[in-house]
Amino acid sequence: MREPLKGVAPSILAADFGRLAEQVATVLAGGAKVIHVDVMDGHFVPPITMGPLAVEAIAEQVHAAGAAVDVHLMIERPERQIEAFAQGGADSITVHAEATPHVQYALQSVRDAGCLASLALNPGTPVEAASELAGDLDMVLCMTVNPGWGGQRFLEHSIAKLERLRTLLGPDPAIEVDGGIDTETARRCAAAGATVFVAGTAVFGARDPAQKVKEIGAALTG
Ligand code: DX5
Ligand code: ZN
Repeated sequence: MREPLKGVAPSILAADFGRLAEQVATVLAGGAKVIHVDVMDGHFVPPITMGPLAVEAIAEQVHAAGAAVDVHLMIERPERQIEAFAQGGADSITVHAEATPHVQYALQSVRDAGCLASLALNPGTPVEAASELAGDLDMVLCMTVNPGWGGQRFLEHSIAKLERLRTLLGPDPAIEVDGGIDTETARRCAAAGATVFVAGTAVFGARDPAQKVKEIGAALTG
């Protein structure tokens, strides 16, 4: 059984890909125990980003630091790609509730592949979308912006949604927030029940990304 994800999860979507290994090393040195990989297919969301090769490129480095590779699939029919990402070195794989009619099957396939299974909910998707799946998931990713781009503004109604989600799920599953997360929004999401905090722009846009990881991490406990 894998350890649940926890804490700040820098999103490499906002990293400089010309020096990806160096950027990943910086945030690992800052104490990040989760590296978030945003996979977009040009269908579920308009942009195309990275695939299993990107996961493979960072997996060894991340694992050597005792951290986890957290793959966020913003793609249609994610169940068809799970094996490839698991083989690339993913530790957790998130599928969107809106991306397939076979959500339970997708989550089951993630666990069968040896990874933590996570379900993402778009801002317009009610928390009840997770209610039949509590036994099939290790984490719920609550989108705090609409998926597709970094650098968007945090949606305020996410706080009340997180509180409903925590009540629905009980204390055990991890809850990840993703989009518009900085020191202040992370602190408020933590108070509402979130346990994993994806941050792209806030971390890699900072003058000192390692320091920013520490700063967001400190805000969660303080
Ligand atoms: C958005 C992605 C996010 C993105 C967050 O669709 O899922 O993970 O990298 O970026 P920021 O932290 O800039 O909002
Ligand atoms: Zn993401």
